[in-house]
Amino acid sequence: MKKVNLFYLLSAILFGAMLVFASCTKEGAPGTDGQDGADGEDGINGDDGTASCILCHDNTQVMFAKINQWESSIHATGGNFERNGTSCAPCHTSQGFLERMETGEQVTAASISNPNPINCYTCHWIHNEYTPADWAITYTDPVTLWHPAGKAEVDLGTGNLCANCHQSFIPNPFPVPGGDNVTIGSPYWGAHHGPVANVIAGAGGYEVDGSLAYTPASFHSTNVENSCITCHLATAYGVQAGGHNMSMTYAYHGHDVVNSAGCIDCHTDPDALETKIEDTKTEIGALLDELFGLLTTQGVLDSTYHAIPQEMTADQAGGVLNFNMVREDKSHGIHNYNYAKALLTNSIEALAE
Ligand code: HEC
Ligand code: HEC
Ligand code: HEC
Ligand code: HEC
Ligand code: HEC
Ligand code: HEC
Repeated sequence: MKKVNLFYLLSAILFGAMLVFASCTKEGAPGTDGQDGADGEDGINGDDGTASCILCHDNTQVMFAKINQWESSIHATGGNFERNGTSCAPCHTSQGFLERMETGEQVTAASISNPNPINCYTCHWIHNEYTPADWAITYTDPVTLWHPAGKAEVDLGTGNLCANCHQSFIPNPFPVPGGDNVTIGSPYWGAHHGPVANVIAGAGGYEVDGSLAYTPASFHSTNVENSCITCHLATAYGVQAGGHNMSMTYAYHGHDVVNSAGCIDCHTDPDALETKIEDTKTEIGALLDELFGLLTTQGVLDSTYHAIPQEMTADQAGGVLNFNMVREDKSHGIHNYNYAKALLTNSIEALAE
């Protein structure tokens, strides 16, 4: 019995202790609710997710018009964006150009995979902020030309964008006027295909002495605001010229006509302008033909305008350079009439001697 009693006693003590603890934590009846606090201030509404997108992606058809013009441009259709190696990609691919402008190098670190041609993202900061501020032009700083080394920068306003790519290669070797013979090792030697910025700047040709001075530059190369943009991006003619097609000429009844939308502010008489264009093209064309004749006769230029690799005089090499520089500028003297005419005339004089 004694054993049993002890068990009951211990159990009773334990039970009693549990009751004591339980009653300590037990809640009393809830009190009455307090008063409601004052309402907080309203938060600022978030932007509508697409509000800034539709400032560009709208139904005005402006963007479609630019896309349509660009799609038929040489930038889109030229096909040379496959030139994606490190020394070509900086001008021929969109990604290579943006990389080069960021690094300041004349080559890309590696060849560009999935190369894109020059497109909206090359010239505008598309989808950076996702607002219309993204239409800003990517690069408008003055441009230090690659050739000739050390030449002061050119400043063409918005046209600086174009000058970064439409400029001369560094011809190696570069003949010194009246200097030693040079050895030309490649048929592709010269200023490359788009030396426009150099012609406009009046810099980088073979400036041999002759009857014409290389300066002052022409009115067009110094006095047209934003340069390229004023003439080339003037009001579009369909998708053939102007606007985002950027070409200067369009075919009209079987012949090429200059899109004069950007010229008429200054050249108010269209007939006089047409005559001026014809005269200038005819004059520069005749000088090109004459220089071509001399260079081919002397065996330094072939019929497809390539240098014939060999050792040649500085005047011969300079003649090849000047011929291709003016020819590949493709404006027939309109970019910088004085400079183009002086390069051709003085080279002709030097070679005809
Ligand atoms: C500065 C004007 C602008 C703004 C703002 C803008 N876009 Fe675009 N968007 C463009 C341009 C230009 C293209 C390229 C058009 C082309 O090449 O067909 C493009 C292309 C696109 C494309 C097609 C795929 C591509 O990337 O090429 C989509 C989808 C798109 N945008 C969505 C948006 C959205 C979503 C927003 C807002 C968050 C936005 N965009 C804001 C100009 C803009
Ligand atoms: C990233 C380099 C780059 C920039 C920037 C650039 N271009 Fe070009 N442009 C080229 C290349 C490369 C070609 C030739 C494309 C091809 O053949 O695939 C070309 C072709 C052209 C052509 C056609 C040439 C022809 O033979 O008919 C015109 C006109 C032109 N560009 C004008 C401009 C203008 C104007 C600007 C400035 C608004 C500009 N480009 C900016 C690289 C550039
Ligand atoms: C400094 C910029 C620049 C670099 C670098 C450059 N190019 Fe070009 N290239 C141009 C421009 C601009 C044009 C278009 C000129 C025009 O049509 O008026 C062009 C045109 C061309 C064309 C078309 C020629 C034609 O008559 O249709 C070829 C091919 C070409 N480049 C090859 C190359 C190769 C190969 C390299 C690399 C070794 C290279 N380019 C590097 C700017 C450049
Ligand atoms: C080679 C360079 C180049 C390329 C490629 C290019 N643009 Fe432009 N774009 C310009 C320049 C330069 C201007 C400024 C023209 C001016 O000041 O009159 C401009 C202006 C514009 C404007 C007017 C912007 C404003 O502030 O109102 C729009 C819209 C536009 N571009 C759309 C496009 C679209 C869409 C594409 C692609 C299909 C494109 N651009 C490709 C050079 C380029
Ligand atoms: C005063 C107006 C004017 C300015 C400024 C100007 N161009 Fe031209 N450009 C022309 C004319 C006109 C032609 C065509 C001549 C012809 O073939 O009938 C031309 C031809 C060209 C061509 C050959 C393809 C074509 O469209 O016929 C290229 C490429 C070119 N220019 C690029 C440029 C670049 C890049 C700049 C700025 C660095 C520039 N131009 C500045 C008027 C101009
Ligand atoms: C800002 C004004 C202005 C614009 C824009 C302009 N020109 Fe001129 N242009 C002139 C002046 C001024 C002269 C005369 C220069 C001289 O006699 O010394 C001239 C001269 C010319 C010449 C004769 C050759 C030369 O350069 O001296 C031709 C050809 C010509 N312009 C065509 C054009 C074409 C084509 C356009 C448009 C694509 C154009 N111009 C745009 C002002 C302009």
